[in-house]
Amino acid sequence: MEGVTSWAHSVYILLFFSLFLHAQSQQLQSNEQTVLLRLKQYWNNPPLLDQWTASSSPGSHCSWLGVNCTGGSVTELVLSNMNINDTAPSFLCDLGNLTKLDLSYNNIPGGFPKALYNCSKLQYLDISQNYFYFSVAANNFSFDIPPAIGRLSQLRSLYLYQCQFNGTYPAEEIANLSNLMELALAYNTKLIPSAFPVSFTTKLKKLTSLWMTDMNLMGQIPESIGNLESLHFLDLSRNPLTGKIPSSIFTLKNLSYIYIFGANLSGEIPQKIESLELETIDLSANKLTGSIPEGFGELKKLKSLVLMFNQLSGTIPESSGRLPALTNVRLFSNNLSGVLPPDFGLFSPLEGFEVNKNQLTGTLPENLCFNGKLLGVVASDNNLTGKLPESLGNCSGLLIVSVSNNRLSGKVPRGIWTLFNMSIVQLENNGFSGDLPDRISPNLSRIEISSNQFSGNIPESIGSWKNLKVLDASNNLLSGSIPGEITDLPLLETLLLDHNSLSGSLPEVINSWEHLGMLNLSNNRLSGQIPGNMSLLPFT
Ligand SMILES: *[C@@H]1O[C@H](CO)[C@@H](O)[C@H](O)[C@H]1NC(C)=O
Ligand SMILES: *[C@@H]1O[C@H](CO)[C@@H](O)[C@H](O)[C@H]1NC(C)=O
Ligand SMILES: *[C@@H]1O[C@H](CO)[C@@H](O)[C@H](O)[C@H]1NC(C)=O
Ligand SMILES: *[C@@H]1O[C@H](CO)[C@@H](O)[C@H](O)[C@H]1NC(C)=O
Ligand SMILES: *[C@@H]1O[C@H](CO)[C@@H](O)[C@H](O)[C@H]1NC(C)=O
Ligand SMILES: *[C@@H]1O[C@H](CO)[C@@H](O)[C@H](O)[C@H]1NC(C)=O
Ligand SMILES: *[C@@H]1O[C@H](CO)[C@@H](O)[C@H](O)[C@H]1NC(C)=O
Ligand SMILES: *[C@@H]1O[C@H](CO)[C@@H](O)[C@H](O)[C@H]1NC(C)=O
Ligand SMILES: *[C@@H]1O[C@H](CO)[C@@H](O)[C@H](O)[C@H]1NC(C)=O
Ligand SMILES: *[C@@H]1O[C@H](CO)[C@@H](O)[C@H](O)[C@H]1NC(C)=O
Ligand SMILES: *[C@@H]1O[C@H](CO)[C@@H](O)[C@H](O)[C@H]1NC(C)=O
Ligand SMILES: *[C@@H]1O[C@H](CO)[C@@H](O)[C@H](O)[C@H]1NC(C)=O
Repeated sequence: MEGVTSWAHSVYILLFFSLFLHAQSQQLQSNEQTVLLRLKQYWNNPPLLDQWTASSSPGSHCSWLGVNCTGGSVTELVLSNMNINDTAPSFLCDLGNLTKLDLSYNNIPGGFPKALYNCSKLQYLDISQNYFYFSVAANNFSFDIPPAIGRLSQLRSLYLYQCQFNGTYPAEEIANLSNLMELALAYNTKLIPSAFPVSFTTKLKKLTSLWMTDMNLMGQIPESIGNLESLHFLDLSRNPLTGKIPSSIFTLKNLSYIYIFGANLSGEIPQKIESLELETIDLSANKLTGSIPEGFGELKKLKSLVLMFNQLSGTIPESSGRLPALTNVRLFSNNLSGVLPPDFGLFSPLEGFEVNKNQLTGTLPENLCFNGKLLGVVASDNNLTGKLPESLGNCSGLLIVSVSNNRLSGKVPRGIWTLFNMSIVQLENNGFSGDLPDRISPNLSRIEISSNQFSGNIPESIGSWKNLKVLDASNNLLSGSIPGEITDLPLLETLLLDHNSLSGSLPEVINSWEHLGMLNLSNNRLSGQIPGNMSLLPFT
């Protein structure tokens, strides 16, 4: 009897307990639902959150737009780009299990939302804002309570880019967030200039991504940056830095992306390259001197080599021509010399090749378009010799060939004129010869071939070159008469045919030169009268 009672009692207690638990979890869910509904109301019911409506079915808020739950409790709020225009209220952290909060691309005023310091489990916080989404009134941020951010000790990802912060930022407190893997402070252009925080390099050992573009970093990049062994992405571009690129950067084994362009760096690029994972190197627009490291030619994953606008000299490492992933080569406006590595294009899906404004000699690589992806060859202002590679005439994606101011010669591959996408052909000031094409690509808008040895007639088919805006063929050996069809080009802005051997009379009927602003036919053997209607041209 006593046993039965005790058994019944236990059942009763169990039953009571499970009911209680059930009620408690209902309570919990509706509590969190209430918090979300309060949030919506606090933010003046943004239309994008219309779906957030009270419901008695348990856990229904877990499927609301932007909400994720774990074990029935809200753990993630992703409210990026929801037209939120008020600050984050303190009760937001009543969602006590929140690990991820994304309020980026909104219009939240009033600086870093202080309430968030109570969301102690946050691992991921993004309040970055594109300032195009901002009103000026909202750009009134400053990091005015620095120490508190140190409380968010679980943070792994902190995104504060483009927040219009002014004043200083709490570098030491951020450096205390020892779990950080991703840190983005970029594009806070109004921050008071400050040195690169050495403590980031000594304390944030787990960083994989450090994005500090354009935030007024001054002074040198500390050599200790080499401590950040997990670093995968590094962007320090557009800061008024000084000094050299620390050699330790290129010891980082996991570094895949390095962007330090427009950062006023000087000295040589470190020669010892151990960062074999590199995919992008962009050190453009600095004051770098010395040569391109041979080691760049060992980077099997390298896609983009971007070093333009520096003072680099010496030759381009020959092995870089054989890199299997290389897509973009942008080395223009340096002081590079020697011959171009002959294998460029042969082993990789090369798209862009820009080596203009250097002192390069020798020929253009024969196989730039071997893999059929090439969009442009820009090699003007060098001292190149030889012919344009025949294979370029077969390169269907090509948009631009610009090789002016070299010592190239020979005939131009026919395809250069006719490839469907071709828009710009610049061959000025070389020794090219041969006839003008009969037919050109419908997209060709600029033909600049002055100071060469092109000969023969201007074809009558020129009347079909309808998209031509610029034809500069001055200073060649063109002969014959100027076909009347040349006046059928409705977009033509510039026509320069001076210093040739053209003869006969000028075209009588000007059909459609509506945009012509520059015309020079001087120094030919033209005769006859200037047609009366030529004076009606809309020269500008
Ligand atoms: C803020 O957002 C709410 C909801 O989208 C809207 O009703 C209100 O007009 C906005 N206020 C301002 C000042 O833009
Ligand atoms: C919710 O979690 C799922 C699965 O992890 C994820 O795909 C989704 O993007 C998350 N949604 C939000 C709003 O975080
Ligand atoms: C957080 O989640 C745990 C386990 O799911 C739960 O017991 C607790 O009540 C939740 N906390 C809040 C504030 O919702
Ligand atoms: C953080 O929470 C405590 C109590 O839990 C509260 O007193 C305090 O006002 C909160 N701080 C903020 C900034 O919301
Ligand atoms: C900017 O912040 C200052 C001080 O915090 C405040 O007095 C001022 O009203 C704010 N301006 C705007 C436009 O919000
Ligand atoms: C930050 O911006 C606010 C609003 O424009 C301004 O009042 C304040 O003086 C600025 N602070 C600094 C340090 O520039
Ligand atoms: C960083 O963390 C340490 C240890 O918790 C603490 O003593 C120190 O005050 C913190 N530094 C800052 C600047 O918050
Ligand atoms: C480098 O990356 C690999 C592969 O992602 C990873 O296994 C390794 O732990 C990383 N090394 C460091 C130091 O983070
Ligand atoms: C670049 O560095 C030089 C010193 O090396 C300095 O005189 C100059 O002001 C710096 N320029 C910028 C934009 O910071
Ligand atoms: C470029 O190199 C030449 C010699 O190769 C040298 O005379 C010249 O000073 C260099 N120019 C710059 C800007 O470094
Ligand atoms: C190009 O080469 C010629 C002959 O070697 C040389 O005289 C000339 O100075 C070079 N031009 C440039 C711009 O380097
Ligand atoms: C151009 O392409 C045609 C057909 O694909 C091929 O027969 C020819 O050899 C190619 N010419 C060059 C110079 O690559």
